[in-house]
Amino acid sequence: MEGSHMGLLLFFCSSMLFAAFAAASSRNLPIIPFDEGYAPLFGDSNLVIHRDGKSVHLSLDERTGSGFVSHDLYLHGYFSASIKLPSDYTAGVVVAFYMSNGDMFQNNHDEIDFEFLGNIRGKDWRIQTNVYGNGSTNIGREERYGLWFDPADDFHQYTIVWTDSQIIFYVDNVPIREVTRTESMGGDFPSKPMTLYATIWDASDWATNGGKYRVNYKYAPYVAEFSDLVLHGCAVDPIEQHVAKCDNAPQSSEATTTIPSSGVTPAQRIKMENFRKKHMTYSYCYDKVRYKVPPSECVISSQEAERLRRFDPVTFGSGRRHHGKRHRRSRGSQTEAAASF
Ligand SMILES: *[C@@H]1O[C@H](CO)[C@@H](O)[C@H](O)[C@H]1NC(C)=O
Repeated sequence: MEGSHMGLLLFFCSSMLFAAFAAASSRNLPIIPFDEGYAPLFGDSNLVIHRDGKSVHLSLDERTGSGFVSHDLYLHGYFSASIKLPSDYTAGVVVAFYMSNGDMFQNNHDEIDFEFLGNIRGKDWRIQTNVYGNGSTNIGREERYGLWFDPADDFHQYTIVWTDSQIIFYVDNVPIREVTRTESMGGDFPSKPMTLYATIWDASDWATNGGKYRVNYKYAPYVAEFSDLVLHGCAVDPIEQHVAKCDNAPQSSEATTTIPSSGVTPAQRIKMENFRKKHMTYSYCYDKVRYKVPPSECVISSQEAERLRRFDPVTFGSGRRHHGKRHRRSRGSQTEAAASF
């Protein structure tokens, strides 16, 4: 990973594509068949490919969960899937759509996560996002949100845009979180090539009310459906570690005429702020139990602090001791998640 040659290539690749990734929307981007972009990861027959190879079902039953992984490693890009989550009772179930290089860098891996946490009947799925850079797993940067729709009713698009200066999470083209690289984050901003993963697995110990509600296999199989898979980035040769191929910028007027200094346009920013006001239920930046002083990249809004404090006075309040809050290492996604919600 040290070659200056590689560094130069990566630099050009990511600078050129910055605007394109940031302004892209999936309708401009090629949807690739499963076999072209991915391979099964685990769960044998619990992974089923449908519809001309363009849609994949991942299921969890009492035997196993399942998952798939991209063939290539990518440094930066636009990564997206339409996902329909299992319905009804899904407590303890986690569906994850994430990037990681944990299998190559055991002690200093990078990770960018969407995690969907199941729930008991009548209660909604929750989404969690998180970012780790260079093995910074001691600093969780989780956020959690509700959604403005039931993600088990229909397909919705979930997107990770990753450039050398920003990570943006989108739900149906609404940005829900923006992580801007700051000097003080140092290596905590993901900066090494990663592969893309999708998994479903049993996270009974922490996913729902800190393990209070476990997976109930009476309702199995739990099936998560994935389609419209978009992998659009700079593929990196896993052996040589240089950029083998950067996809061209999408051919759209949007991508060529909109070159915002930030990936989020002013109109999108308003949507993002509205989403966060309405639906964010947890942010590490405001967690007084975990961080006496918020990590340096946090920009604290007093309004946000007040809103979260009303929602959960123990976590976001005076910093009193919070019983029952634990952090666990989860198996399926190499992600730590706060046990309470
Ligand atoms: C990443 O971690 C490795 C090993 O812990 C360390 O040597 C290196 O300096 C770190 N890189 C950055 C950019 O922080």
